[in-house]
Amino acid sequence: MVLANAVEPKQSSSPLLEVSNLTKIFGSGKDQVVAVDEISFEIQPGEILSLLGESGSGKTTTARMLLRLSAPTQGEIFFEGQDVNAVKSVDYWKRVQAIFQDPFSSFNSFYSVHSFLGKAFRLTNNHNSAADKRARMEEAMEKVGLNAEELLFKRPHELSGGQRQRLMLARALLIGPDLLIADEPTSMIDASSRVGILNMLMDLSRQHGMSIMFITHDIGLAYYTSERLLIMNEGKIVEEGTAEQVVEHPTHPYTKRLLDDVPRLRRKWDI
Ligand SMILES: Nc1ncnc2c1ncn2[C@@H]1O[C@H](COP(=O)(O)OP(=O)(O)O)[C@@H](O)[C@H]1O
Ligand SMILES: [Mg+2]
Repeated sequence: MVLANAVEPKQSSSPLLEVSNLTKIFGSGKDQVVAVDEISFEIQPGEILSLLGESGSGKTTTARMLLRLSAPTQGEIFFEGQDVNAVKSVDYWKRVQAIFQDPFSSFNSFYSVHSFLGKAFRLTNNHNSAADKRARMEEAMEKVGLNAEELLFKRPHELSGGQRQRLMLARALLIGPDLLIADEPTSMIDASSRVGILNMLMDLSRQHGMSIMFITHDIGLAYYTSERLLIMNEGKIVEEGTAEQVVEHPTHPYTKRLLDDVPRLRRKWDI
């Protein structure tokens, strides 16, 4: 006799994103760097997860491949079951957006905040009136804590790093992706507003079913925000599990070492 509920069936919803044996090698010969080494994982619709590892472990290289800004040396990426190479980049970028670690690199200094945000409308084929677009831009800016009246016609070099990071977030809000890849999203934001920004991202995920992949070296941020953690070390995913599993019962020596550095983690995250 088979007992009903003897085994909980695995959740059968199909993954939003699926990565298989993804590898990135830079250079060749003795200068060769295996930045990402045959990693495989899935992101479920609406899921918040973190890719966690020290600097140099391959996180940003992974993000760049997921965003199709860098071609994998080997391996595949599937979005809603489809090989991403079969999807036009512009269509893909409506669904998958990013907030980067280094906002300097993502802004062209010729563009004002207004034209930077305006590009979001081109991506989503929004042909509403200029007044409507402007109202939406201002709304998105206020949502992420930017004063639209003061900043809308500023250029990137007139903004602080934190303001640029918030601006990327505002653009992501205007696009409304299914997956947001947030690479050290609050690294330039002062500690006192960090939690507010993270909470806002988590609310967006809940309200719109948006998946978020946080990419961070900060285990506190990962634990605070994420249902699931992927631990990355030297290009490999060495451990994967729910945030509780990984933090309470780490199995890989590298994860244990990461956790040893944050003895207060389980009490309360208080930055
Ligand atoms: N464009 C590149 N050319 C050569 N090596 C690179 C390049 N980008 C990253 N790397 C190397 O790949 C490794 C992983 O880097 P990265 O993905 O930026 O790590 P993380 O984001 O975890 O700090 C590092 O050794 C880095 O020096
Ligand atoms: Mg990085």
